[in-house]
Amino acid sequence: MKILILGVNGFIGHHLVDRILKETDWSVYGMDLAFDRLSRVLGHPRFAFLEGDISINREWIEYHVKKCDVVIPLVAIATPKLYLENPLGVFELNFEMNLNVIKQCVKYHKRVVFPSTSEVYGASTESEFKEDETFLVLGPIQKQRWIYACSKQLLDRVIYAYGSRGDIEFTLFRPFNWIGPRLDSLDTAKEGSSRVVTQFIADLLMGRPLCLVDGGYQRRCFTYVDDGIDALMKILENKDGCARNEIINIGNPQNECSIRELAHLLKTIFMAHPRHQRDDRYSEIVETSAESYYGQGYQDILVRKPSIEKARRLLGWFPKVGLEEALKRTLYAFLDENETLPFAWGNTPPVFQGTFEPERTRAGRSEKG
Ligand code: UGA
Repeated sequence: MKILILGVNGFIGHHLVDRILKETDWSVYGMDLAFDRLSRVLGHPRFAFLEGDISINREWIEYHVKKCDVVIPLVAIATPKLYLENPLGVFELNFEMNLNVIKQCVKYHKRVVFPSTSEVYGASTESEFKEDETFLVLGPIQKQRWIYACSKQLLDRVIYAYGSRGDIEFTLFRPFNWIGPRLDSLDTAKEGSSRVVTQFIADLLMGRPLCLVDGGYQRRCFTYVDDGIDALMKILENKDGCARNEIINIGNPQNECSIRELAHLLKTIFMAHPRHQRDDRYSEIVETSAESYYGQGYQDILVRKPSIEKARRLLGWFPKVGLEEALKRTLYAFLDENETLPFAWGNTPPVFQGTFEPERTRAGRSEKG
């Protein structure tokens, strides 16, 4: 099988390509603005990489859509602070640019595995979110946080409509707070604009306070990335068409916790790490308001828990890594990768030093995800 992954250097992309190359005979064609997370796979005979931008390298994309069996468009801005700082950027990248890719898939009748998001359920008050039943509830227009969920939801609907018309075969997967090594770059966390787990890890490393937005009573279900990738591999295998034209939550409802509990757990795990057991002092855990942390335009999701009955039934999948283990693996990987390298944390991260020479193209914008 030939797979095209756009945004292959992102959190999901680089974990997925690692696994595909390790466990299958599939070939991967990947594109991204950067390649700092790909050092393990650059130069692999079944991995071809282009350093490029999806808004510029359209011919390359069209050529590879035509050539591949499955397309996975992972390019997106996925950190809430940026939804408020750059709402139009979220719309343009997450919706418009990805729509172009979907239209190419329609043109060549390719299968698409598309990352929807747990955020599409919005402020629904259901105790468990079900893919085909739960209402998708978004807040007012002035609350710009919702532009991310809205852009994703509209693309879900467009893909579904193409699928219903028989123009495309698709699977929409909905990750619920996946965490793991290299979740976000620590540089974004330094500026305070990464997802909560990376943010807290960076704060612990810098001895800065961990800020609980509105007291930290919001709840999330943190899912270890290896479990998420297990589910994605089953979707890609698509045994007997099990994932054909389906929407599937991928999350770990057993790992539900409040952000307050998360902060305490991470701090405890950090304090137990051999290199930090004897630190002079540790970060405090403090409360802050959403407005002072994010500015106006933020609204939160108080409880977000997936039903994973469909993933069990269709894929035979269930998550295995518990919360403490997932946090420990994530935190320790960040510490190992950022504290043992011969450069000061916060400087330019190391890049692949081998013989690989990526094809360089203009790369203007920051892409995350
Ligand atoms: C995230 C992002 O929107 C996407 O990455 C993704 O689609 C989705 O979740 C997902 O992974 O399922 P959210 O969970 O709200 O949304 O994002 P985080 O930035 O990780 O924040 C989680 C919670 O922690 C929020 O309630 C936020 O207010 C809180 N928080 C964040 C703090 O209390 N302190 C911080 O320093 C940062």
